[in-house]
Amino acid sequence: MPETVLGYAAPAKDILIEPAVLQGRIAELGKQIEIDYAGQELVLVCILKGGVLFLTDLMRTIHIPHAIDFMAVSSYGIGARETTGIVRIIMDLERDIRGKHVLLVEDIIDSGRTLHYICDVLRAREPASLKICTLLDKYERREVEVPLDYVGFHIPNEFVFGYGLDLDELYRNLPFIGVVRD
Ligand code: IMP
Ligand code: MG
Repeated sequence: MPETVLGYAAPAKDILIEPAVLQGRIAELGKQIEIDYAGQELVLVCILKGGVLFLTDLMRTIHIPHAIDFMAVSSYGIGARETTGIVRIIMDLERDIRGKHVLLVEDIIDSGRTLHYICDVLRAREPASLKICTLLDKYERREVEVPLDYVGFHIPNEFVFGYGLDLDELYRNLPFIGVVRD
């Protein structure tokens, strides 16, 4: 039986970021985005699946009109915890982003390879601007330079789960960020 953490079935691991701390920071990011994009045609592009909880909470704090769209990529082998470096688009955007102000919404930047690839692909479609908003930045692991415009939390080099991030596809539902310490 898995342990219960804050009423959720979860592996018995440490909580790195508590729900209230997450939500407080997300509200701050939303407020900043609202100011920065006022009067512009904003499209939030969520990278599935990890970014989905972040997107839905973030967009509720952005009180200016904006569209959302989704993209799914795969960069890990099945069950692996490291990016292979080979990124595949599994699901592409529905709408054309030409001339739009695109803000990518990601769960975590690790090596930076996934985001670097996505940015190359999207830049070729000529958006008016392309920026990145990530909830977590595991900066010690960076292999490829990616400019981050909005960062929720800088975190140490540990494998995390919860709030969109999975442990072998489970625990994305948790309202906190947990950390795997082996
Ligand atoms: P990158 O290409 O190495 O930057 O990997 C980015 C992707 O790897 C993220 O979008 C996540 O889906 C996944 N990832 C990286 N670190 C973690 C982690 O600690 N927990 C869960 N997923 C992670
Ligand atoms: Mg991801």
